[in-house]
Amino acid sequence: MKDVTDDKANELGIRLRPITLSDVEAIMTWINDPEITKNFAGFNDPITRDSEAAFIAKMAASQTDHLYAIVDRADVAIGTAGIHQIYRPAGNGRLGIMLGRGRGRGWGRKALELLVQIAFEQLHLHKVWIVHFADNARMAHLCEVLGFKVEGVLREEYFHRDRHWDMVRESLLAHEYRAAHALPSE
Ligand SMILES: CC(C)(COP(=O)(O)OP(=O)(O)OC[C@H]1O[C@@H](n2cnc3c(N)ncnc32)[C@H](O)[C@@H]1OP(=O)(O)O)[C@@H](O)C(=O)NCCC(=O)NCCS
Repeated sequence: MKDVTDDKANELGIRLRPITLSDVEAIMTWINDPEITKNFAGFNDPITRDSEAAFIAKMAASQTDHLYAIVDRADVAIGTAGIHQIYRPAGNGRLGIMLGRGRGRGWGRKALELLVQIAFEQLHLHKVWIVHFADNARMAHLCEVLGFKVEGVLREEYFHRDRHWDMVRESLLAHEYRAAHALPSE
């Protein structure tokens, strides 16, 4: 897996690179922030150092996941971004992103753009999809500006914090990405 950056990312000082166990210390400084955990239905109990390390090891061994650290100029992990549930016969994968530090400065947008670039230009997927809480307006806005299309609302799909939540599924196709970036079709 190659590191991914571009001119705009360089200007912002962020990059995506494969995550490693040495990122655990930095991740532990923000992973249990309620502003982050509220957006993930799987996060009901606090994440421990050991469970985070086990997760990274599992991702590194997986054939169907590619997990990256979003790193700053000092190569410190300020977030994570991943392509999961990669299903090669159809060429699709689910995106996930979590910015731990520096929200609202354009870093999440840039990290998501870099993740999409990896999915289409390195992994040659046909389609990426994402599921977010219906009330995650920031994520919905980011999907819209990156050209994702809403596929539908999964009504009361997740149970989190004592209630059910509607989830929105959105996707972007390779040909839409290539047209938006003036890239020739593959
Ligand atoms: C979602 C997340 C990746 C976004 O990253 P970020 O760096 O905070 O976002 P950015 O600054 O790059 O961009 C946010 C955009 O949303 C807009 N925005 C912010 N709050 C908004 C709101 N309440 N409603 C609509 N748009 C909003 C901003 O104006 C900006 O748009 P612009 O670039 O067109 O001006 C990050 O906040 C995060 O990790 N949150 C917690 C975890 C999470 O929600 N992950 C997604 C799970 S699917």
